[in-house]
Amino acid sequence: MYPILLSPILNLLLLLFFFYSLDATTSFWPNKETHEIQPKETHSVCSQTFACGRFENLSYPFTGGARPAHCGPPEFHISCVDDSPELTIMSLRYRVLELDPVHKNLRLVRSDLWNSTCTDKFANVTIKSEFFAYNENDDMELSIFYGCNSSTITPKPENWFPCNVNLPFNNSYYLIGTVPIDPIMGGVKCEIETTVPILKTAAAKLGANRSLFQEAIMEGFNVNYSSPYDVECAKCLHLKRGCGFDSHSSRAVCFCGDRVCDFSGTKFHSIRP
Ligand SMILES: *[C@@H]1O[C@H](CO)[C@@H](O)[C@H](O)[C@H]1NC(C)=O
Ligand SMILES: *[C@@H]1O[C@H](CO)[C@@H](O)[C@H](O)[C@H]1NC(C)=O
Ligand SMILES: *[C@@H]1O[C@H](CO)[C@@H](O)[C@H](O)[C@H]1NC(C)=O
Ligand SMILES: *[C@@H]1O[C@H](CO)[C@@H](O)[C@H](O)[C@H]1NC(C)=O
Ligand SMILES: *[C@@H]1O[C@H](CO)[C@@H](O)[C@H](O)[C@H]1NC(C)=O
Ligand SMILES: *[C@@H]1O[C@H](CO)[C@@H](O)[C@H](O)[C@H]1NC(C)=O
Ligand SMILES: *[C@@H]1O[C@H](CO)[C@@H](O)[C@H](O)[C@H]1NC(C)=O
Repeated sequence: MYPILLSPILNLLLLLFFFYSLDATTSFWPNKETHEIQPKETHSVCSQTFACGRFENLSYPFTGGARPAHCGPPEFHISCVDDSPELTIMSLRYRVLELDPVHKNLRLVRSDLWNSTCTDKFANVTIKSEFFAYNENDDMELSIFYGCNSSTITPKPENWFPCNVNLPFNNSYYLIGTVPIDPIMGGVKCEIETTVPILKTAAAKLGANRSLFQEAIMEGFNVNYSSPYDVECAKCLHLKRGCGFDSHSSRAVCFCGDRVCDFSGTKFHSIRP
């Protein structure tokens, strides 16, 4: 009686064990919560780098190209536009001119001002966030005024330029710094005021030669970046896993193969998607 009673249970256990082993190498059993990761599964799509133009080996926290969006926080997603990397920060797009992953510095320029001093995006550059910060040692503000009623000012000073956007007036001018101290400009009414950071070195050149306005903007400005998830992420990278990001829970996650996996002591467990 005893062996006969046991055998169905034993069979079930054997069957369970069979599926368990199967599950360890494939995702055959989707309802199961976790399983141990086999050593051969270490390669992750999030361990890959990507290139854009002359920028090679772009990696965490940046995503784009061969690195899918789930491989890093959305703030660091790069679009490769005409072989040029672009970041979107607070809904303004920026062209990346330099990227130093060792010192975590970026040189950025507003994409809409890349080779035009006219723009219809009348937004101030506001990048202060937990991810990006101006390098205050290097940068200063340039103020640009668009749509100015300045018909009375003739001839126009060197810091004036025409700009045809959808405004009643096409005169525009810029000031180095933020405070309009110029007495001539005091009586001028402008529709739009916007500020753009430029390098202090470029501002000095612009002060000496007023026709270097476009050049000054196109030299960009310096920003330091940091990812608040770096500490969590370092744990993945240390164990040669890909570091990624779960935008639902807004936290760093490790990737084993193409699956999310978590730490449990020194072992990784994959989590069903
Ligand atoms: C990118 O990585 C490859 C392979 O590791 C290396 O040969 C190449 O020099 C790197 N490129 C840059 C710009 O660091
Ligand atoms: C930004 O980076 C530069 C160069 O690495 C460094 O000297 C500076 O202290 C950093 N600034 C901030 C605010 O972290
Ligand atoms: C402006 O930039 C775009 C994209 O980089 C380029 O195709 C175009 O030729 C540039 N125009 C001028 C006047 O430099
Ligand atoms: C930019 O900031 C200045 C100063 O705070 C403000 O007067 C101006 O209206 C802002 N411009 C835009 C387009 O938000
Ligand atoms: C523009 O400025 C001129 C001269 O100051 C003034 O006569 C005119 O009313 C202004 N136009 C508008 C639309 O403000
Ligand atoms: C600016 O507007 C004035 C008057 O509306 C016009 O005569 C002039 O041609 C315009 N300038 C440019 C560069 O479009
Ligand atoms: C100012 O810069 C422009 C454009 O680079 C150049 O053609 C001009 O000669 C410069 N003027 C002076 C006085 O250096």
